[in-house]
Amino acid sequence: MNKVALVTGAARGLGEVIARKLHKEGFRVAITGTTAASVNPLANALDPSGETAWAGALDIRSKTDFEAVRDALGEKWGGTDVLVNNAGRSKVAPVLEITPEEFTENVDINLRGTFLGCQVFGPHFRERGYGRIINIHSLAGHNGGTATGAHYAASKGGVSTLTKVFAREFASSGVTVNAVSPGPLDLPVVYETVDPQKLDTIKATIPVGRLGDAEFIADTVALLASQGASSVTGACWDINGGLYMR
Ligand SMILES: NC(=O)c1ccc[n+]([C@@H]2O[C@H](COP(=O)([O-])OP(=O)(O)OC[C@H]3O[C@@H](n4cnc5c(N)ncnc54)[C@H](OP(=O)(O)O)[C@@H]3O)[C@@H](O)[C@H]2O)c1
Repeated sequence: MNKVALVTGAARGLGEVIARKLHKEGFRVAITGTTAASVNPLANALDPSGETAWAGALDIRSKTDFEAVRDALGEKWGGTDVLVNNAGRSKVAPVLEITPEEFTENVDINLRGTFLGCQVFGPHFRERGYGRIINIHSLAGHNGGTATGAHYAASKGGVSTLTKVFAREFASSGVTVNAVSPGPLDLPVVYETVDPQKLDTIKATIPVGRLGDAEFIADTVALLASQGASSVTGACWDINGGLYMR
């Protein structure tokens, strides 16, 4: 039977592109978002019969939501094989103007959400002797952010650490945990949150001369989600157009 992949934050943007790619690659795909209504159209577009695409609500701030989706997929497809921790929220704000509440909100989504996903699905994969976790990181987590706020950058920085911690925890159980770290992508959220003039300046500083391609990020996620990717774990694959070389 084809492997089962769960993608968080898949109503739009990168999550949608990843869900489409994994489905095209033959995965049965669970498409989740803050509400079921936000992800139903994509699931219906991929497979109206519901045999290979499932839509459900999963707020990544809630451990109970992760557990409920794990159990629902267990009933529907016998379990889950791949988790893509994609959901995130990007905020632009000067560091001295970030309120404690805004800081906490960002960390809750971008860092704590990834932690909860790994904590719920890691043991499920270990029990099954197989699993792939791919955490969507960000260049901001390495360089402090080009167009985003300190709260976003700091929370993404923590994703590096969590990826290594969970990779070590599950390495001997057939479960890999990796991160993919994009620079600014040619996606709606970038145009919605970054001032057009600033975006032109950012584009001019990207060594390869263009924004990143979400399709290629999805290709990379699919590669790390494949059965052959068994010896890559605890890694972070940078895809940032040369903005940050290390
Ligand atoms: N775009 C870029 O240039 C870029 C660069 C580096 C990294 N990334 C990372 O790529 C990932 C996807 O970003 P994107 O560009 O596709 O952004 P996006 O268009 O804003 O999409 C983010 C998705 O995450 C969902 N989401 C937000 N909070 C959530 C929560 N608590 N629970 C579940 N889902 C939630 C959103 O749903 P709602 O709309 O319902 O809130 C939305 O569907 C993020 O982790 C982001 O940090 C993006």
